[in-house]
Amino acid sequence: MERELIGVLVSGNGTNLQALIDAGLPVSAVASNRKDAYALVRARAAGLTVATFSLDCHADRTERDLVMATWLEEHGVELVVLAGYMHLLTEPFLRRFPDRIVNVHPSLLPAFPGAHPIDDVLDAGVETTGVTVHLVDGGLDTGPVLAQEAVPVEPRDTLVERIHAVEHRLLPEVVKELCLAAH
Ligand code: GAR
Repeated sequence: MERELIGVLVSGNGTNLQALIDAGLPVSAVASNRKDAYALVRARAAGLTVATFSLDCHADRTERDLVMATWLEEHGVELVVLAGYMHLLTEPFLRRFPDRIVNVHPSLLPAFPGAHPIDDVLDAGVETTGVTVHLVDGGLDTGPVLAQEAVPVEPRDTLVERIHAVEHRLLPEVVKELCLAAH
């Protein structure tokens, strides 16, 4: 069965990228805003094409995003997955992939958006948090929710690993449906 090719954007460790690779999804290219992201080591080990689009090398975010979008298109990407990508995407990038950009976020959005949701959850003292997979729009962790799963906050010392375990199952499930549904 024909499937859409996936481009994955990463900034960090890349455990969610690894989950997509391990699920056998058709990842064709991996892009990062940081050349030191360990996710790039994982991508190269899997034989994937990688590139870094650092802000230092471009006039501004818009120009960087346009160059990155063109590179993804050149690699046949139709579906973009943000797997721990920590920069907001600008409008020109969003317009190149309408309704085809997915993000995973470690909270039950719209609660606790932003860069430190797990710390924010612990500070707030709530009982339940979780994982959200959603389509990306121009906002910070906004856009239509595709899937959510709750995770109890206690025991706190294992919260991060329990959230990651849910992400690593939920993100590939949703991405698989999306890349099959398009054809
Ligand atoms: C993941 O927990 C992901 O949900 C989060 O960054 C982590 C990346 O881990 N993303 C965000 O907070 C986006 N707002 P990874 O690099 O090991 O996949």
